[in-house]
Amino acid sequence: MAVPVAEAARAASLRAELERHNHAYYVLDAPSIPDAEYDKLFRELQGLEQAYPELLTADSPTQRVGAAPLKEFLPRRHGVAMLSLNNAFEPAEVEAFDQRVRDGLESIAAVDYAVEPKFDGLAISLTYENGLFTCGATRGDGATGEEVTPNLRTLHCIPLRLAGAGWPALIEVRGEVLMFKADFAKLNERQRERGDKEFANPRNAAAGSLRQLDSKITAGRPLSFFAYGVGAGGEQLPLKTHAELMDQLAAWGFPVAEERRVVQGSKGMLGYFAEIGKKRPSLPYDIDGVVYKVNRLTAQAQLGFVSRAPRFAIAHKFPAEEALTEVLGIDVQVGRTGAITPVARLKPVFVGGVTVTNATLHNEDEVRRKDVRVGDTVIVRRAGDVIPEVVAIVPEKRPSRDLFGGEPLHPPFELPKICPECGSTVARGEDEAIARCTGGLYCPAQRKQALIHFAARRALDIEGLGDKLVEQLVDAGLVHSPADLFGLTMETLAGLDRMGEKSAQNLVAAIAKSRQTTLARFIFALGIRNVGEATARDLAAHFGQLDALLAADGEALQQVNDVGPVVASSIAAFLNESHNREIIGRLRAAGVVWLEGEPADVGPRLFTGKTLVLTGTLPTLKRDEAKAMIEAAGGKVAGSVSKKTDFVVAGEEAGSKLEKALELGVPVIDEAELLRLLEKGFE
Ligand code: IVH
Repeated sequence: MAVPVAEAARAASLRAELERHNHAYYVLDAPSIPDAEYDKLFRELQGLEQAYPELLTADSPTQRVGAAPLKEFLPRRHGVAMLSLNNAFEPAEVEAFDQRVRDGLESIAAVDYAVEPKFDGLAISLTYENGLFTCGATRGDGATGEEVTPNLRTLHCIPLRLAGAGWPALIEVRGEVLMFKADFAKLNERQRERGDKEFANPRNAAAGSLRQLDSKITAGRPLSFFAYGVGAGGEQLPLKTHAELMDQLAAWGFPVAEERRVVQGSKGMLGYFAEIGKKRPSLPYDIDGVVYKVNRLTAQAQLGFVSRAPRFAIAHKFPAEEALTEVLGIDVQVGRTGAITPVARLKPVFVGGVTVTNATLHNEDEVRRKDVRVGDTVIVRRAGDVIPEVVAIVPEKRPSRDLFGGEPLHPPFELPKICPECGSTVARGEDEAIARCTGGLYCPAQRKQALIHFAARRALDIEGLGDKLVEQLVDAGLVHSPADLFGLTMETLAGLDRMGEKSAQNLVAAIAKSRQTTLARFIFALGIRNVGEATARDLAAHFGQLDALLAADGEALQQVNDVGPVVASSIAAFLNESHNREIIGRLRAAGVVWLEGEPADVGPRLFTGKTLVLTGTLPTLKRDEAKAMIEAAGGKVAGSVSKKTDFVVAGEEAGSKLEKALELGVPVIDEAELLRLLEKGFE
């Protein structure tokens, strides 16, 4: 049946219009019509194509949904080989590269370099014949890759037909397929919900999603693409520079890095490296460095290639953020409130620019979920200043009892039933993620942490009483509780390691000075669970006198501003412990004083004037606990993310708020980082 002219014209116009909207949405990130309108046009085109199959074209937006599964990938020979880049890690190597370029070009003047992020995904080549996308392939060995055309068609940001004009009859466009961080987080959340395997990082997720024989699976995965070069056909373009090439690629409809720039000489390159390094955490996708390319295309040709890499370009890489290493043991650490945290002891490994020997495993459930065991080879990640963590194990490398890969050599990790520090029972509340030592101040680990907290700047502010000293005092049996600090003398201190007379004198003076404090600081210093600075101030203001607080029951406590049942029961539990009351009595007897009824003052605090947003499930803290801690540090906790948000604290299954944060470039931290900041401040 002949297709009526009107229908054919309508189909062509729908295709063009839908692709325009696609480009606006997926490439420009600026939606041009409501989703429902788009769907309506899409269905109209689908209807026409069903009625008149002759109307179906390879570049129809309806073809982005995936095709029939393949039996295998076919090899695809690249028109021009896909090369790799030489790497530089040190500024000196970048300077040497610039020198080689200048020597090669016999240039006295500084050379212009096109600079761009080095995307951490996988390289692909897209062939366009007469402007139509006809074939897409992975890099493979550089000469021949695997054809994954149906899969690549499902990527909405890859044009099925080039926009504008000026393309050669055949052109290979080169670039990187990757997954945005927010999309990766969502995908893993979905995988988890369905009981499917999670991906270790966005790169693995992108590779795994692209290399699917069934392109319908790829269609369901949120892949993105950035173009950074051309292969065959490139020589026919009437362009002078790489920067112009990038603009041309953008004009044809490809996403290109917004961060691309042209700089001069090694100074310009190193300046760009530093700038992108700072931006890295807030970029919506992972990068593993930057790429410098001689900008002038004739200069590129003049420099040519050595073996498999161009002489005109180099990758300047960040230190790897992930590395493989071995788990030597799994210890547990006991925190101030008794929280038991499993920690992997690792064979030292250089990652994220430092040598890492320990990595947090967060909590019992997390160890189970990842099934980390002694002897396992694991991926360790340390991004920025975040505490190193074990991302995943490498199952194939698990040592087994025999040579045939049978029973594993080591059993699954079990959290100790008794505290390794004090032998008290370890208990885990029903709906709590975290197990705790029930030893309280009897437990030396908790005692040390309690003392560190007691002496902290925002508590009794005992200058010079740091972690190391507290450790020594407790281990030497000189101090059991905060009250014992006030009995320390020059003589007792003199016996300690590395304690000179002057330091001992200073410490005794600092302890004496700390006796004069405020009620709010005193309450805060006690280290009651869930009582941060703000709550301590509210309690001080409400009760005015310590005895009134000591006499308060759960109901009376809930009369205090912002004190709910959780906080009230923490305070009541603390005050019900006779040894806590005894310590309070001894502190008063030791001369710790404050002006009763004075306005609480703990000065400007860590998060004063800052707004934080909590999202997802934090590994150990409940939401009110995290909120209480942030407020105690002077911060505000808001319900939604905006440009004004200072930090987003993200836990597991964080969704749209995390996405929004990444989109707006709001710094995202995890619980461990939050706790570190609260303890150590912004360093
Ligand atoms: S240019 C002639 N630019 O890095 C070499 N590559 O180590 C052409 N990559 O296989 C590569 N971002 O997968 C170039 N902005 C960028 C890149 C980039 C990531 C990858 C690419 C390539 C590898 C080379």
